[in-house]
Amino acid sequence: MAKSITVLGTGYVGLVSSVGLADFGNSVTGVDLRKDIVETLQSGTPTIYEIGLEDYLQRNLEAGRLSFTTDGPAAIRDADIVFIAVGTPPGSDGHADLSQVEAAARSVAKNLTGYKVVVTKSTVPVGTNRRVQEIIAAESGQVPGEGFSVVSNPEFLREGKAVQDFFHPDRIVLGCEDERARGYMEDVYRALYLIQTPFVWCNLETAELIKYASNAFLATKITFINQMANLAEATGADIHTIARSMGMDGRISPKFLHPGPGYGGSCFPKDTKAVAATGDEYGVDMSVIKEVIRSNDEQKSLTAKKLLRLMGGSASEKTVAVLGLAFKAETDDVRESPAIDIVQELLLDGAHVRVFDPEAVENFKAALVGEGPFGGGLNSDLREKIEEAAAERLSYCRDEFRALEGADALIIVTEWNAFRNLNLERTKALMKGQVIFDARNVLDPERVRALGFSYAGVGR
Ligand SMILES: NC(=O)c1ccc[n+]([C@@H]2O[C@H](COP(=O)([O-])OP(=O)(O)OC[C@H]3O[C@@H](n4cnc5c(N)ncnc54)[C@H](O)[C@@H]3O)[C@@H](O)[C@H]2O)c1
Repeated sequence: MAKSITVLGTGYVGLVSSVGLADFGNSVTGVDLRKDIVETLQSGTPTIYEIGLEDYLQRNLEAGRLSFTTDGPAAIRDADIVFIAVGTPPGSDGHADLSQVEAAARSVAKNLTGYKVVVTKSTVPVGTNRRVQEIIAAESGQVPGEGFSVVSNPEFLREGKAVQDFFHPDRIVLGCEDERARGYMEDVYRALYLIQTPFVWCNLETAELIKYASNAFLATKITFINQMANLAEATGADIHTIARSMGMDGRISPKFLHPGPGYGGSCFPKDTKAVAATGDEYGVDMSVIKEVIRSNDEQKSLTAKKLLRLMGGSASEKTVAVLGLAFKAETDDVRESPAIDIVQELLLDGAHVRVFDPEAVENFKAALVGEGPFGGGLNSDLREKIEEAAAERLSYCRDEFRALEGADALIIVTEWNAFRNLNLERTKALMKGQVIFDARNVLDPERVRALGFSYAGVGR
């Protein structure tokens, strides 16, 4: 039977989940604290860039199965099931900051008008769902499993493919410890049952750790291939042939073996830090993941340094075109994007920087000076210097060709399709210099060199 669902938080995960759960036939209310987000969504306009999202949003709004509000308490009172999809940004000590999750749990407790299932979709460290259960029990006076149930349902969608991933997940993980809640979750995801999606039923702690283990493993795979790429580069080997051959081994798989400027995004950086912090808390060795974190930071800074080296040691007074600001293609998310480090480094070195990204410019403007959800990493001196340099020497361009005008060097930071098919003849005519640093290996080195450019990729 279709359920009445409230989703707390309408960011990347909450919005895609709201729209997807409504499309499964459930009646869904998406709640956000931000009035501007709620109004935009209610008018049928997505607040994030995700392929296919607008159609699903509008279709479900029109069908009357989906609505958005800032009135969390009323939406919770009306729901059978409350999904928590709020942010869990990194705290200063590496642990996830759980204040938004705990506030959401308190809000559920205050509005527990009858039995409800509370489902945590946010990525939360092991033990958090027990804590959510304790908060709701303590503040509502209800017994877990009777007055309410807590379910851990971590989300695995990829930004850029979020809608597709929501409707065709590899698996649904459900940390669920009572039969009544299990029946509710089977109803919620009935559409996925019918297409034989694997369901993993387990306890709360296992579900929480599955998410961290998966993200930490993927981050490790990227870091591994980046280190191998650096070795290939130093020895004259070709990382693409290496990665392709490794991927032919069924035990390895070809996915996540693409070298680049280091991983970014809202998940891998914070989730690796959080799982390392959990290891410390329990006295368990997480040295592999700690080394991944260190090495990835190093890869970002190596990328910026390599660009300066390709430009003869300094970019001062030179013009650099930066194509791509998002942390990966098909998203407007710039959280922890390598482009932030690279543009900051270029500005501090005295370069004129011309940037273009098809979707991520507005988010980047805040992130560059340490604002936005993951901001705050810059001390005030550095921030002031970057702000001043950006005001004088940073131009946001309308397309890739404007960014290339008069550039001494080009760096490709995000693998947008438009950059894979970059018109190289036009690039040649627009640029003043010859340096191309393809930090995503999206161009054909032979073609680029044949036009007289000096080409550098990663590991080839
Ligand atoms: N972004 C991803 O690709 C992804 C993938 C899988 C899992 N996750 C996890 O999902 C969670 C959410 O991530 P996101 O990227 O969607 O975050 P986000 O920052 O894009 O969105 C969170 C939203 O929650 C709202 N919010 C905060 N407290 C609220 C409350 N009490 N009531 C209603 N709204 C509230 C905020 O205003 C914000 O709009 C995180 O734990 C993240 O790690 C993210």
